[in-house]
Amino acid sequence: MTVTAATTVVSPDEQSGTIIDIGTGTAHDTVLSQQKQMVQQRLLKKENGKRWLPTALIWGDENAHQLWWEASNLDEFYSIRDEVNLLKRWAQDIARQVPDHSVLFDLGCGDVTKVIPLLNELERSGKHVHYYALDISRKPLESVLAKLPTTYQVVKYTGLWGTFDNLRAWCGNIQEPKWFLSLGSIFGNDEFQIATNDLRKWVSVMRPQDRMLLGLDGCDDDEKVWRSYNDTKDCWHRMIRNGLELSNKVLGHEWYRPEDWEVIGVTQRRSPTLTHQWVARATRVVQCEPLGLYLSPGEEIITNEWYKYGPDGMQKQFDAVGFANVGQWKSPSGPVYQYLLALA
Ligand SMILES: C[S@@+](CC[C@H](N)C(=O)[O-])C[C@H]1O[C@@H](n2cnc3c(N)ncnc32)[C@H](O)[C@@H]1O
Repeated sequence: MTVTAATTVVSPDEQSGTIIDIGTGTAHDTVLSQQKQMVQQRLLKKENGKRWLPTALIWGDENAHQLWWEASNLDEFYSIRDEVNLLKRWAQDIARQVPDHSVLFDLGCGDVTKVIPLLNELERSGKHVHYYALDISRKPLESVLAKLPTTYQVVKYTGLWGTFDNLRAWCGNIQEPKWFLSLGSIFGNDEFQIATNDLRKWVSVMRPQDRMLLGLDGCDDDEKVWRSYNDTKDCWHRMIRNGLELSNKVLGHEWYRPEDWEVIGVTQRRSPTLTHQWVARATRVVQCEPLGLYLSPGEEIITNEWYKYGPDGMQKQFDAVGFANVGQWKSPSGPVYQYLLALA
């Protein structure tokens, strides 16, 4: 797999399957240095009295992606299956909305199982589109590109290695209609203020002809949600611990030792949205002098959160950020939705 340097020019004729490194804007601003900054800002410092392990770090290596893949094949992990079913069922309708000569950006592509039905449909209907699979994690990006059909004639595809911030800076000069795909409950999936702040960043780079396709799990069944993350194979638990280990590497100091922490899944309602968090709780004093870190027993770090907003909750977010919901599809197998958003 070739990795080329950052460029802001879309060349539809380029060979499908290459990866462009858009995370290396300057020598001081690589994907790794951005991850380090995120941990310094959110874990080493408190934000509204809380510490966080940034999501971008939890997905930071191949091991994390492997565990996620393992989880997604378990019976209890319903949300991936429901979203795949949605995209299979409605691929034709969604593809019909995509203008010829559009550029698609898959924000945090992870695995391409979900997007393939849509790309197949675009190919079948002869739409010339360029699909860009963006991810912060490079190795998984390579294997993902290898899964895409090499027989496409009109659909081209390229990998982008970088962060969401990098993409917003990179895609500015693209004149073709842009479609931002947020599959897998990535955006909109947070406490209202944070979710809307994140969405506003995308609103700021969109023009009237651009769209965002946003998929979100709106499950309202406490038991089902709890079981999906506290799975029989402990995949999510292991993934969170893997993310904590990764933060040692990124920070260059071993502040996290597994034996000092319990990692627990918590499902709760926040008027009235159902949420699930993975929380790491110190079981003894945790101290790392070089990082200036001191935590007392019982102190917590929030590591990964899900907000299960249904259509009403999402509409509030769209209204708040200036999005018009111009299309909506529901999974045939569960309460997972895709919302098609344009500037209001
Ligand atoms: C929940 S998975 C979703 C994957 C895929 N969209 C799907 O629905 O199957 C989140 C993905 O976003 C990527 N990711 C997380 N934070 C990111 C960031 N700041 N910039 C780019 N990618 C990121 C992760 O590596 C991971 O592949």
